[in-house]
Formats: sequence, structure tokens, C-alpha cells
Amino acid sequence: MHAAIITLLLTFFTSLSSAHYALTFPYWRGPSFPTQWDYPCGGMNQSLSANNRTLWPLSGGAIALTPTHPWAQTYINLGLGSNVTGFNISLVGPFNQTSNGTFCLPEVKLPADLNVQEGTQASIQVVQLSHLGGALYNCADITFSKDAKSPGSAVCFNSTGVGAQALDYDGPEQCNATTGGGKTSGATGLGTGPGVMLLVVFAGVVAVFMV
Ligand SMILES: *[C@@H]1O[C@H](CO)[C@@H](O)[C@H](O)[C@H]1NC(C)=O
Ligand SMILES: *[C@@H]1O[C@H](CO)[C@@H](O)[C@H](O)[C@H]1NC(C)=O
Ligand SMILES: *[C@@H]1O[C@H](CO)[C@@H](O)[C@H](O)[C@H]1NC(C)=O
Ligand SMILES: *[C@@H]1O[C@H](CO)[C@@H](O)[C@H](O)[C@H]1NC(C)=O
Ligand SMILES: *[C@@H]1O[C@H](CO)[C@@H](O)[C@H](O)[C@H]1NC(C)=O
Ligand SMILES: *[C@@H]1O[C@H](CO)[C@@H](O)[C@H](O)[C@H]1NC(C)=O
Ligand SMILES: *[C@@H]1O[C@H](CO)[C@@H](O)[C@H](O)[C@H]1NC(C)=O
Ligand SMILES: *[C@@H]1O[C@H](CO)[C@@H](O)[C@H](O)[C@H]1NC(C)=O
Repeated sequence: MHAAIITLLLTFFTSLSSAHYALTFPYWRGPSFPTQWDYPCGGMNQSLSANNRTLWPLSGGAIALTPTHPWAQTYINLGLGSNVTGFNISLVGPFNQTSNGTFCLPEVKLPADLNVQEGTQASIQVVQLSHLGGALYNCADITFSKDAKSPGSAVCFNSTGVGAQALDYDGPEQCNATTGGGKTSGATGLGTGPGVMLLVVFAGVVAVFMV
């Protein structure tokens, strides 16, 4: 393989591995690091966590994670039931979760039309797309309950510099990689160079997985 492609692959995997994150509240299914890019729950299936549900308030509650990347397009979804296969209720997002450390949303509200009762079981899915497009998944299993306790400020806090902002994509020209019509300057620009490099990297990744 060409040396430059190997370097690109190494860069890709380094950025991918450094982009892993944990859910600290509600408590995640378990250490998903080796398989975190597996949809829908980072390779941690339901049977691993069936007996470790976090009680979560009936109107919604805190969600805390420990991101490790400069920023990530982030989604937080919910699925109802004791063995969720489709996370088809959007709780938050997408938004741009910025910087690394601990990030916590203290009060994620349920959609107004969602009717949950004391004891309703559900799972929360957090998705983070890193700046190179790696999609990382984690899930936490919850039981809605009036007895749910706040995680407290030792678990639910934002590290210095960690936060969220609206996504700032520039529009359709971002997709025009084949013609070189993408932006070539600016923080969010994806110029011809990076676009072609990404294609090369993904071709390399596909090749690796096909071996
Ligand atoms: C769930 O994970 C366990 C432990 O890794 C494994 O034995 C089991 O086959 C998995 N089940 C499914 C449906 O993937
Ligand atoms: C959850 O559903 C999957 C897929 O239907 C099944 O393989 C698995 O055994 C179920 N797990 C539990 C804990 O019921
Ligand atoms: C169950 O969740 C608690 C936090 O709610 C955590 O401290 C504990 O390690 C978890 N146990 C397992 C087996 O994952
Ligand atoms: C989500 O999926 C469940 C189970 O498949 C279904 O019953 C429910 O209607 C869906 N909800 C939405 C908002 O699509
Ligand atoms: C955040 O990322 C920087 C740069 O990679 C690193 O030096 C620092 O240790 C990270 N901090 C945390 C809390 O992960
Ligand atoms: C963390 O930052 C987000 C985004 O600015 C904010 O909504 C949230 O309230 C902050 N969390 C805490 C515990 O202050
Ligand atoms: C997310 O925020 C970071 C830090 O401000 C910024 O560099 C990046 O371009 C933003 N990404 C998107 C897609 O908005
Ligand atoms: C992509 O580039 C071509 C050629 O420059 C141009 O005709 C087309 O309008 C562009 N499409 C978008 C969505 O910017």
C-alpha cells in the first residue's frame, strides 16, 4: 500500500479511537470502546444490561457524557420498551457538542405528547459523529420513576470549555466534492484537498475491512 495512504489510515484510526466517549448518566450499558461504531448501541446489546437500569424522572432528566474530541455532531434519542430496537424518538439534536471532558445536559425534557408512566422502561441512545465522519453510539437503559434522583454536580457538570452550539454547516456547496466546488477556506470549509483525502481514506478503510 502507498505510504501516504497508510499515513492517512493511521491518522484516521487515531482520530477515531481518540473520539470514544462514555455515558456517565444515565449509566451506560458498559465499556463499548472496541465496538463503539456499531449501530445502534456501540455493540452493547440489551442482555448485558437488563438488570442495571437507571431511574429517570417522568418528565425527563439529566444526560452526562465524557466526550474526547474537539467537537462532534450529536444526537440524543429515546426508544420505549424493555428491549429497544428502534430509537425513534428524538430528545435533543442534532447539535454541535464542543470540546472534551465532561458534558451534561441537566434537564432533557420529553416530547410533550409522549406519555410515560411510573415503571415505563426505555433506552437512551447518544450518537456522536466526529469531524471525520466516524459515527459512535452508546446506550443507557432507564426506568421512568418519580423516585429518580438527580445525579448531582459531581456527575452532571460541564468541564471548562466544554459546551454546545448550533451546527454551522454552510449549505449544499459542502457536498460538491466531485467538482472542487466546495469551500476552500474558513473553519467549516471542506475543500477539494480534504474531500479527496477523505475519499482515499474511506476507500482504504473499506479495503481493510474487505480483507
Ligand atoms: C449479546 O451479547 C452477549 C454477550 O456478548 C452475546 O452472548 C449475545 O449473543 C448477544 N446477543 C445478541 C442478540 O447480539
Ligand atoms: C432483545 O431483542 C433481540 C432481538 O429481537 C433478542 O435477540 C434478544 O435476545 C433480546 N434481549 C432480551 C434481554 O430480551
Ligand atoms: C450499574 O450502574 C451503576 C451506576 O448506576 C454502576 O456504578 C455499576 O457499575 C453498574 N453495574 C454494572 C454491572 O454495569
Ligand atoms: C417508534 O417505534 C415503536 C415500535 O416500533 C412504534 O410503536 C412507535 O409508534 C414509533 N414511534 C414513532 C414516534 O415513530
Ligand atoms: C482534552 O484534549 C486535550 C488535547 O487532546 C488533552 O490534552 C486533554 O487531556 C483532554 N482532556 C480531557 C479531560 O479529556
Ligand atoms: C452544559 O452546556 C450546555 C450547552 O451550553 C448547557 O445547556 C448545559 O446546561 C450545561 N450543563 C451544566 C451542568 O451547566
Ligand atoms: C463545531 O464547533 C467547533 C468549535 O467551535 C467548530 O470548530 C466546528 O466547525 C463546529 N462544527 C460544526 C459542524 O458546526
Ligand atoms: C456543483 O458544481 C457544479 C460545477 O461547478 C455546479 O454546476 C453545481 O451547481 C454545483 N452544485 C452545488 C449544489 O453547489
